[in-house]
Amino acid sequence: MKIITDPRRWKETMYEVRESGASIGFVPTMGALHQGHLSLIRMAKEQSGAVAVSIFVNPTQFNDPKDLRAYPSTLETDQEALRSLGVEYLFLPSYEALYPDGYTYSIEEHEISRRFCGASRPGHFTGVLTVVMKLLLLTGADRAYFGEKDWQQYRLIEGMCEAFFLDTKIIPAPLIREASGLALSSRNMLLSEEDRALAPSFHAILSSGKPVEQIISDLEQAGFIVDYVQQWEDRLLGAVMLSHVRLIDNVRIRT
Ligand code: PAJ
Repeated sequence: MKIITDPRRWKETMYEVRESGASIGFVPTMGALHQGHLSLIRMAKEQSGAVAVSIFVNPTQFNDPKDLRAYPSTLETDQEALRSLGVEYLFLPSYEALYPDGYTYSIEEHEISRRFCGASRPGHFTGVLTVVMKLLLLTGADRAYFGEKDWQQYRLIEGMCEAFFLDTKIIPAPLIREASGLALSSRNMLLSEEDRALAPSFHAILSSGKPVEQIISDLEQAGFIVDYVQQWEDRLLGAVMLSHVRLIDNVRIRT
């Protein structure tokens, strides 16, 4: 696996891979990899000639500095996992390298990014879209993979690619859960033992089929602090806090 930290070298290398005739499947991540991430990489592997992964904990998408400081990092085991899946290219840029402008330029969406997670995390999606735009431009992949776990993020990235005529096809990947129903997330490892035991009931209650008001009150009753539960198109999206850890999930609504 080739590890590259310099954005210009990454761009050149990706160009050479495409010139050699291989298609590129790209999976951007913030590391602390789990089976959710690995499922995206397996999909990329099946569908593309070469797989490129990035690990970059993007500070501009953290509206809370405490959340950024607490974000887990498991770089050594991440690299082992990527090697064993046969990933050919890993991009590990620094903040300075990826933001030569010091974040004076950004990509902003003015409608959907203000709702749901965006309402309580001001600036979050501007940070996400900006870093994803940089990564997509540097990689020039044929396909890039985003998990349905972050449904709002996936839809905003898909919309950005349409709005700016990017050539990379955005592929959604199914949400991976533990047997308990809890959506896999790098943040799960930050939960206390007690909160860890409670966390699976988030999905159980969200998918209960009850009216939204009842779901909110059931979540509160169970001990969650509810940020929002809201329907968007055919999905029910939700975000809750357990102590200082934010959990999100979404389910398709049965019609
Ligand atoms: P991160 O949270 O590391 O997630 C990387 C990718 O893995 C995202 O597309 C996310 O939706 C997907 N993913 C995470 N958990 C999943 C699960 N349980 N099932 C399926 N897919 C899952 O999302 C980000 O990083 C960042 O915002 C990023 C897009 C990399 C921009 O910084």
